[in-house]
Amino acid sequence: MVNFHIEPTSKCTLECPLCDRTWFYETFKKRNLHEINIEHLVKFVGPNAQISMCGNNGDPIYHSRFHQLCKKLKDNNCALHIHTNGSAKTKAWWSKLNQILNKDDCITFAIDGLEDTNHLYRKNAKWNSIMNAIESLKERKFKMVWQFIPFKHNQHQILAAGQLSKELGFDEFKLLQSDRWLGKTELMPDREFVDSYYEHQEEVLISPKYSTDMEPYCIKNNEPSNQLYIDAEGDFYPCCWIGTYRYKFKHIFSPKQNKFNIKDSTLNGILQNTKVKDFFESTKQFTSAHECCKIQCGVKK
Ligand SMILES: C[S@@+](CC[C@H](N)C(=O)[O-])C[C@H]1O[C@@H](n2cnc3c(N)ncnc32)[C@H](O)[C@@H]1O
Ligand code: SF4
Repeated sequence: MVNFHIEPTSKCTLECPLCDRTWFYETFKKRNLHEINIEHLVKFVGPNAQISMCGNNGDPIYHSRFHQLCKKLKDNNCALHIHTNGSAKTKAWWSKLNQILNKDDCITFAIDGLEDTNHLYRKNAKWNSIMNAIESLKERKFKMVWQFIPFKHNQHQILAAGQLSKELGFDEFKLLQSDRWLGKTELMPDREFVDSYYEHQEEVLISPKYSTDMEPYCIKNNEPSNQLYIDAEGDFYPCCWIGTYRYKFKHIFSPKQNKFNIKDSTLNGILQNTKVKDFFESTKQFTSAHECCKIQCGVKK
């Protein structure tokens, strides 16, 4: 079955230093703010879809019609996994969301530390509003996960945060060891908390001679096996890595060509398009790290 990764909006109230939206702002001194069109999206993904609501450049909860978006997808029996920083919404807002979600859904809260440290990476995060959200969701039907990224300033709090997650009623405490340190190593924790993939990324970038065997995972048995990506503008990409700002305007899926937007396409129409087919076909040929469209977009054999 085809799964989707959706970016409901490219809006966010935070400015995490290693987020793509922060990189874009620091580099170009502007922001691209969009919200996905609910009607186009619901029609495009159809019933029973598995949807990760996350995105490269925003936080789903800041879509101005987020409840309606979830409600329409739930009416279509879709399973939703919402990824959020959890800040700046009222208890009433969260209670309304609680009524819409069911046992097939999940919310992952990205909380990188305790009250005194979370905002050091999650800049502008509001601890009290995150706690209000969690309190409002104490009685619920769906799964709730605390995702914690270790940094230099919070690595000493991992155990305490895990304990707090239990007291607050989370179903899972998940340590996400980041591989995203290029350019901002001052935030890096001890090596034991850094994803080993970082070494590979460093090598790919600095050493043209470096080679390692790759096995891209975006197609298996001639079917897309990764999540198909739809960004806040409604543009379709075979995977979210090529939907990042760094790649977006260079690639054959450039929105300028206007061929791959959910506004006027069907999923089958897009998957049958020669350029999409060619893309998936060509990934089968990628064997080395330098050929892959992004250094993350493949697993080392
Ligand atoms: C752009 S965010 C969108 C969702 C939401 N705004 C959030 O932050 O969870 C995409 C994903 O990147 C994760 N993320 C943010 N900073 C990261 C980092 N330095 N390393 C690894 N993942 C990171 C987020 O937790 C989230 O799972
Ligand atoms: S909360 Fe998510 S979208 Fe917002 S700045 Fe941080 S990583 Fe980016």
